[in-house]
Amino acid sequence: MITVRNITKIYKTAIKNQNFKGFIQYLFNRQYKKTLAVKNISFNIHQHELVGFIGPNGAGKTTTIKMLSGLLYPTSGEIEVEGFKPQERKKGFLKMISFLMGQKNQLFWELPAIDTFIANKEIYEVKENRFRKQLNLLVELLNVSKLLDQPVKTLSLGERMKMELIASLIYEPKILFLDEPTIGLDIISQKAILSFIKEYNKIKGATVILTSHYLKDVVSLANRLIMINKGEIIYDGNVDTIQRKYSKEKVVKLILRSPDNKKFVEKVFNKIEYNYPVVKFKVPKNKIIETLTKLQEIEFEDISIEDISIEEIISQLWQEKE
Ligand SMILES: Nc1ncnc2c1ncn2[C@@H]1O[C@H](COP(=O)(O)OP(=O)(O)OP(=O)(O)O)[C@@H](O)[C@H]1O
Ligand SMILES: [Mg+2]
Repeated sequence: MITVRNITKIYKTAIKNQNFKGFIQYLFNRQYKKTLAVKNISFNIHQHELVGFIGPNGAGKTTTIKMLSGLLYPTSGEIEVEGFKPQERKKGFLKMISFLMGQKNQLFWELPAIDTFIANKEIYEVKENRFRKQLNLLVELLNVSKLLDQPVKTLSLGERMKMELIASLIYEPKILFLDEPTIGLDIISQKAILSFIKEYNKIKGATVILTSHYLKDVVSLANRLIMINKGEIIYDGNVDTIQRKYSKEKVVKLILRSPDNKKFVEKVFNKIEYNYPVVKFKVPKNKIIETLTKLQEIEFEDISIEDISIEEIISQLWQEKE
């Protein structure tokens, strides 16, 4: 069980001025800038749960999971993870958790991935037979048996991420913190990673907390969604409820060739957002074909059809609250 009670995180960064006076001030009378990254949030996560933690850039996702894994101290509030205080970073706690960041790597760059797995086996004191069993399971699930003895630096980004996951899971942690594990990957690798996480959670019953910018990452994966914006939790509940509500519509984005076309778009579609040459409007999913047919009447440079962004969902949830 993970219990988070009223945690707040304020970052204090020293302000450095470039000139000499600024430098002297920096040495003797430091000025600080304060950033309120997480504001008094609370939640519980039960064993075996798979939770998606989503929010836009700077929302406080990384800060929160760093506090849960003990890499950062909260400024105030209490965190307990399976009876441990994360910030004490006790051995029992470190063996129980794993923290993986999509942008950082722990693998030895010049060596084959298997060498990092063996190093982690020693660090986390994994018995030989457990190590073999876990390695076989992970290698099979991720389909990487042929890549184990290839130097890490020669692997593709997606392959490397799979190896990062194996390195993080080789000691069978009960709790897995994943900070944007699919960042920068193509759609196929993203899907492979996400479906692995889902499968692993099912087979091993590990608790998983995963951050992302995208609702769709979480939809395919988790039952529970925690949405965070500007350091505050604005939704904590079922994924399906949000998904059903916000996946009915798509956002059509057009790049017009001439401002003359604005009139046409305004007449045919509702509530357009116009900022020449970009026009955006929402269309129900089942009306996409009809929309494209109507658009044949005008000329445009480009068109894209996108999911409603997380920022938009947040702003709608916000409005409903008020
Ligand atoms: N080490 C730090 N020092 C000062 N401010 C920080 C530090 N780390 C993060 N912040 C600030 O705290 C806020 C939350 O950052 P955080 O990295 O937790 O957001 P995030 O939700 O993970 O964003 P992203 O989606 O971009 O990864 C931001 O305003 C950020 O600028
Ligand atoms: Mg982050």
